[in-house]
Amino acid sequence: MPTKCYQVDELDQAAQALRQGQLVAFPTETVFGLGAIANNEEAVKSVYQAKGRPSDNPLIVHIAKAEDIFRFSGDLSSEVERVARRLVETFWPGPLTIIVPVRKGTFGPTVTGGLQTVGIRMPDHPLTLSLIQKTGFPLVGPSANLSGKPSPTCVQHVLHDFDGKIAGVVDADPTRIGVESTVVDITHPGQVYILRPGAITEKDLQKALPEIEVTDATRVIQSDSLEHPKAPGMKYRHYSPHQEVYALLPEELMKTLHSLTPDEKAKGAVIARDQVLSQCEGFAKTFSLGENVKTATHDLFAGLRAFDDDDQVQILYVEQLPDQAENRAYRNRLSKAASNKEGLPPRS
Ligand code: TXA
Ligand code: MG
Repeated sequence: MPTKCYQVDELDQAAQALRQGQLVAFPTETVFGLGAIANNEEAVKSVYQAKGRPSDNPLIVHIAKAEDIFRFSGDLSSEVERVARRLVETFWPGPLTIIVPVRKGTFGPTVTGGLQTVGIRMPDHPLTLSLIQKTGFPLVGPSANLSGKPSPTCVQHVLHDFDGKIAGVVDADPTRIGVESTVVDITHPGQVYILRPGAITEKDLQKALPEIEVTDATRVIQSDSLEHPKAPGMKYRHYSPHQEVYALLPEELMKTLHSLTPDEKAKGAVIARDQVLSQCEGFAKTFSLGENVKTATHDLFAGLRAFDDDDQVQILYVEQLPDQAENRAYRNRLSKAASNKEGLPPRS
């Protein structure tokens, strides 16, 4: 069956499909999610199947009313409850997923990957808030991409991966932010751990919670300490198009590009900000990441998908941004996509 593109006036139909256990992709301010009603284990299982997602990587639950976080979380200490309230008031609806202890009997083990915790988020998108309300129960929503591929930031990306395989997608404009939500674990009193960097930064969180210690666990883990909480998803390879991806800081990128033979150039595409692209003579295939970190973050996944159907392109040379706080989410996604951990691609 072809996948239906639900229009604004067809949300009732989309909600009905969800209640029947079918999959409907939905827009958010970050990326598109692959929705299933969270109280139907069969439906939730089919999300893992459709994506090819490992079953120990839990899903996040999307709610339409901020207060619902307290309906679905287990007993919280007054300290943890206070942190949850502050985060919800400050950042919801918005790109923040909050990990809390799960209330027994609310979600099946397929949702939580068997953990005692659950990730909850209220997305900032009117169509999806309305869809959740109409469905009558929260929706699980991993990013609507095949497991391992770049997350989808527009309807075309969703259809590229799932046309004919899911009931529908709610039609909407490309997403505003372009990378997935910041994930925080608040289950350790006095501590907030960032498990995935996103548009809401360590600084934003620290400002909202001055008396709490905010730790970016993705940075700690890079330096090999295993004492801090992790998102199960962090151990999997991510965001990889079928080409090799090399992430290089502007200077290295220019040096590498200039050293390529015409033959090598013909097999490559360059994905970079405009000021870097303007110096890339000899490359027929380029993709602009705009002018700054915001546009680059917004367009990164689209760039990684741009040459999907071009068999000539075998290597993507992508501009890496320097290790600075405002570049954290961009760097995290691009590093996961990249074949090189540091430095230059091997020369043949
Ligand atoms: O912006 C977003 O968060 C998007 C949109 C669609 O809402 N959704 C999304 O979902 O990115 P997903 O499933 O692709 O990523 C959820 C991340 C994974 O890295 C997963 O391991 C982690 O959250 N996660 C989920 N539940 C968790 C839990 N109980 N404890 C720790 N990490 C958890
Ligand atoms: Mg994902």
